Amino acid sequence: MNSNKIIRHKVVRHKRKIKTIGVLTSGGDAPGMNAAIRAVVRAGIYYGCRVIGIYKGYAGLLEGHFEEFNLSSVANIIQRGGTIIKSSRCPEFHKKSYRKQAHQNLVSHGIDALVAIGGDGTFRGAHLLWTETGFPVAGVPGTIDNDCWGTDITIGFDSAINTGLRAIDQIRDTAGSHDRLFIVEVMGRNSGYIAMDVGIGGGADSIIIPEDPSSVKNIAAQIQRGVNRGKTSSIIVCAEGPVQGKSYAIANELKKKYGYKARVCILGHTQRGGSPTARDRKVASIMGAMAVRELLGGYSDFMTGIDGLRPQLVSLIKATEGKKTLHQDLILLGKILAT
Ligand code: F6P
Repeated sequence: MNSNKIIRHKVVRHKRKIKTIGVLTSGGDAPGMNAAIRAVVRAGIYYGCRVIGIYKGYAGLLEGHFEEFNLSSVANIIQRGGTIIKSSRCPEFHKKSYRKQAHQNLVSHGIDALVAIGGDGTFRGAHLLWTETGFPVAGVPGTIDNDCWGTDITIGFDSAINTGLRAIDQIRDTAGSHDRLFIVEVMGRNSGYIAMDVGIGGGADSIIIPEDPSSVKNIAAQIQRGVNRGKTSSIIVCAEGPVQGKSYAIANELKKKYGYKARVCILGHTQRGGSPTARDRKVASIMGAMAVRELLGGYSDFMTGIDGLRPQLVSLIKATEGKKTLHQDLILLGKILAT
């Protein structure tokens, strides 16, 4: 990939000479994060920098949990799920005093720039670090939810939907054997990307997503249409929404009001684990290396993204505040194919 072809949307510049780069993973882990860490380390060393791994996300940054990495430190990790430098959710980092402490830790360890791999919470923290201290930061989107504005795909999404699909295929076997109705709940918090792709790919009879709320009455009508044409088993894919377990409420209502008995299967954190797919490994490798190169090229406060086939940079604030919407055509396709 040629860096001249990168589209940079209103990305700001820093003036620091970067010799040492810190890298951390933060928020929910995602398959492919290791491939991104590897790319940051190897690209950093390739361009003549030292690279420091920061353990446990922003919590480790506050505790000063650092380790210098060499080429071998990241050998044999590209195929591994999780993150070798661990991750955390760190509420302290919402406070300015803690971010000041984090900045002091970075400077005292001789680190000149930070690559933060994670989702919107991670980017908000990195953006504030930049605006408050002028410390160069880059965000790499690593989250199974695929909810970052400015990129078609986030690291981990492809692996998560493939895990979801395998589960649906297996549930379909037992649903068919017992003539049962299943509600399979997938992750994604407030975003329906995972549910949409798993639902379409898994041939779901109904896909419930936050972006296009469907009443239980409609879901029941959909089930009835299937029954009328002789269907004996059905799979409904449901996005979890803000709190896991929403499917139980739907199952209860389906039983009470419409007499349909549904089994619930919550895939939960299984979607966050496992070996990353080829696509996630490639996307993570491209984005990790791109973050390093762009930081060294004088850019800061950006998230690496991919738009179609083109690499691009968008500002961190836009990446977190922009609303990435599910394509209406895809929502319609889910409905057409389920009828
Ligand atoms: O953001 C990734 C994600 O896996 C969401 O899909 C899910 O709602 C959330 O994290 C779960 O977070 P935790 O592992 O902290 O319970």
